[in-house]
Amino acid sequence: MNYHNPVLLTESVDGLNIKSDGVYVDVTFGGGGHSKEILKRLGENGKLFAFDQDEDALKNAIDDPRFTLIHENFRFIGQFLKFYGVREVDGILGDFGVSSHQFDVAERGFSTRFDADLDMRMSKRNTVSAYDVVNTYEYDDLRRVLFQYGDLRNANTIATTIIASREDSPIKTTEQLKGVLKQFLPARVEHKILAQIYQAIRIEVNQEIEVIKEFLLQVPNLLNEEGRLSVISYHSLEDRLVKRYIRAGQFEGEPEKDFYGNISVPLKKVGGLIVPSKQEIAQNNRARSAKLRIATKIKVK
Ligand SMILES: C[S@@+](CC[C@H](N)C(=O)[O-])C[C@H]1O[C@@H](n2cnc3c(N)ncnc32)[C@H](O)[C@@H]1O
Repeated sequence: MNYHNPVLLTESVDGLNIKSDGVYVDVTFGGGGHSKEILKRLGENGKLFAFDQDEDALKNAIDDPRFTLIHENFRFIGQFLKFYGVREVDGILGDFGVSSHQFDVAERGFSTRFDADLDMRMSKRNTVSAYDVVNTYEYDDLRRVLFQYGDLRNANTIATTIIASREDSPIKTTEQLKGVLKQFLPARVEHKILAQIYQAIRIEVNQEIEVIKEFLLQVPNLLNEEGRLSVISYHSLEDRLVKRYIRAGQFEGEPEKDFYGNISVPLKKVGGLIVPSKQEIAQNNRARSAKLRIATKIKVK
């Protein structure tokens, strides 16, 4: 089976404005679709560093002297680039979320299509799994996860139902979880609600929101002047962080103004929001929720 079909491939790599001898980072290597396109556009002195926390992605490593694959979480991007002697780069690409491979392997527990142990860890090094969230989180935390990350209006009653059921016996598999929650899953909306519940648990297990924030905060320090950031998000929580950070240099509230009313932000957006064409969505359903934003590091005058 195909590991992953890259989304918005041309548009996101165009966004990096590749210089032939530049240094680039692909923080979400996956099947390597975006990395291969970056390498195609780099000359022999160019360099590409890629990150993926999933051991399964390592088998896709590209045999090319210009390429280095780092098996780490991209929340540590600065630290690991420094380890490789790199302080500044010309462009960083992120294609957030889970790969098709991760969805398609039943045992990973990411997909509503299969019965599997409650796992959903992108990296086996991660000590918290979906089992822990479902079976050990206190009511307030469980409710918060379901509400904030799954946008579930009835997060309270879902959390109460999970807690009542696990008091009898632990909920070990995705099928058991579905069974416990069947009153919330009428046939008409079963898939939608279940996808929201899975999304919420997955974001919590992998700390996806904190990770993106930590990553974005490092980007301005890592980019050369006029270096580029090109980021694809798949749900509104991610996209909102990217959009706000590019616009305001922070995740909440308005940017501070100086005495003259000028705001100082480290990045400047390049073009508007880019979404996949109808043709791309017809060929690759996973592309349907993708949103691409591009920014550049502001030149110091
Ligand atoms: C949507 S896929 C990327 C697909 C890739 N662009 C391609 O064309 O094949 C996301 C990948 O990023 C990895 N990933 C997600 N979050 C990560 C993180 N915080 N650190 C490192 N890798 C991460 C996942 O394991 C997955 O393989």
